[in-house]
Amino acid sequence: MHRTLQRSISIVNRKLRYLNGRAGGIGDWIYRFSLIFFAFLCGSVWYSRTINMWAMKNIGDTFLRKEIYSRQIILGAFWRDESEQNVEGRYAVIHFLADGRMEHPLYCFSMQANNRYMITRANVQRIHRGKRASSDICSWAGHIAECELDVHSFKDFKISTTPNVEDSMLITPETPLKEPRRHDMVVCMAPMYIYTDWEILITGIETWLAMGASKIVVPVQSASNATYKILQEYEKKGLVIIRPWSKWPILSDTNPNGLVLSRGIEESHVNCLFFVKPWSDIVVFSDIDDFLLPLQPETLKFGDNLRIIRELFAEHPQSGSLLFEHRDVQFVPPQIEGAQSLAKFNFEFLRNSKNKMNCNVWRMKTRVVVNASRVDSVNMHETGIHRLGYVQTRVPCRQAHFYHLRHSHNTVPSPTPINMSPFADLLNKQWTERLETFTDFKTQFLNKTNTEYLEDFDRCMGAINDEHWSMKVSRCLTPHVCFSRLRRQVDCVAVASDYEFYRSGRGYFMNPINSRIQRSETNCESPTPEFIAGNHYFSP
Ligand SMILES: *[C@@H]1O[C@H](CO)[C@@H](O)[C@H](O)[C@H]1NC(C)=O
Ligand SMILES: *[C@@H]1O[C@H](CO)[C@@H](O)[C@H](O)[C@H]1NC(C)=O
Ligand SMILES: *[C@@H]1O[C@H](CO)[C@@H](O)[C@H](O)[C@H]1NC(C)=O
Repeated sequence: MHRTLQRSISIVNRKLRYLNGRAGGIGDWIYRFSLIFFAFLCGSVWYSRTINMWAMKNIGDTFLRKEIYSRQIILGAFWRDESEQNVEGRYAVIHFLADGRMEHPLYCFSMQANNRYMITRANVQRIHRGKRASSDICSWAGHIAECELDVHSFKDFKISTTPNVEDSMLITPETPLKEPRRHDMVVCMAPMYIYTDWEILITGIETWLAMGASKIVVPVQSASNATYKILQEYEKKGLVIIRPWSKWPILSDTNPNGLVLSRGIEESHVNCLFFVKPWSDIVVFSDIDDFLLPLQPETLKFGDNLRIIRELFAEHPQSGSLLFEHRDVQFVPPQIEGAQSLAKFNFEFLRNSKNKMNCNVWRMKTRVVVNASRVDSVNMHETGIHRLGYVQTRVPCRQAHFYHLRHSHNTVPSPTPINMSPFADLLNKQWTERLETFTDFKTQFLNKTNTEYLEDFDRCMGAINDEHWSMKVSRCLTPHVCFSRLRRQVDCVAVASDYEFYRSGRGYFMNPINSRIQRSETNCESPTPEFIAGNHYFSP
């Protein structure tokens, strides 16, 4: 070390001597002095080694940037229905969740007759822009990517984040459900998280069935055993389809579960939309406690909603989607004493709903009804992606609106009287017939789930909601960011999934595998998925 130092100093000195001969003027002297000073500084620093490897690395780190490439959690893949196309060809749609703040390139590879790949770039559209685009509060969002494939692709194809086939992953779109005929009206429910209210669930399902729906799709993440059993019974009758809606995996530096707007409702709705497209005409997107009814419920008849919606679509031939408001309805939940079962349940409690909010109170338009072939995405508050020049139509409250039966609605502000008795009669009649089809399940004892542990969750959701009216927001509006101090072992089931990842270029695809229904974690939570397979040493 010493020798090296001496050698470098002597080199500098020789250089200086050389310069010396030609130097002149004050500037040169300053230059010379600085150079000597610098040489001494470097020499002494080197000698006493105040700059070590780490200091150098720290200096270097100033220039380092984190570069995260596209990471796409695949939520579904679907074939584009031929009847929806206005151009020739074969198309597929990939539905994925990803960071909404960056671009997500996607290429499709389909094998052609000449044994070469047809490579196309997908048209990628974001379903919504997180918390209104300008902030990064809810930065992850669903996307749909549509690409053209070889006309003979019927089973699978490959996708990649780069145009290189070496980076591509095989993907198999869902086989469309085979229904004997197109359903006139299908309902896509909001996903069930920690759902325990089986009375409301039955009210929702029976109402929609009475009002003209013939299939109800329910995404489930976690629900009480009783609720889930009832859903399964309806599924056996062909009236309900349960779709597993698992949590998303935690990535190396983010947890997408806590970064998606409104509990991922829009993502699940879009997934449902593509699932039902091949066999549905009208699709309704709704919460379980929310349903369309005529303005005067005493005049109501079977199949009324189908009539109302068809009239609205006929009145607006250019509309692809209808946007409704919902009105709070006074709600007194059923009081069944002692042990409960389906046989003891009825709709008498609806007679106690004597008021609904009137149409003078301003409410956001938040319920969407679409013509399945005319839209590609659904947003709750703004317009979704419409196809082929169709538009969104906002339905005035006075023409039609949804009824919102929430537990907390003992009284409603600005009431207008309603008579729900004919509605209760109609549902009771339908229920008597339905009960017969439940056979021995109807007398089975159903536990009322303990909801005490949900109080913390409710308070948390309320607090987040309040925050979202302020300028400073710390959390995205999703249940996964809430913590309950009570740790309860409750009788719930939950969807559990494992994930595998595929490194594509410098990006990633993530796929759920082994989705299954099992006993839930504490507090009715669904387990956090883990990566159990991947093709690279870096996890996403
Ligand atoms: C939905 O759109 C399709 C295609 O434009 C049309 O044939 C059908 O009649 C529409 N359904 C309703 C209820 O308007
Ligand atoms: C009902 O709850 C009790 C205790 O809370 C439990 O032992 C029983 O297994 C539950 N039954 C069902 C069908 O969930
Ligand atoms: C609820 O269902 C799960 C899954 O089927 C089961 O493991 C669990 O024992 C059930 N709980 C009760 C209380 O019956």
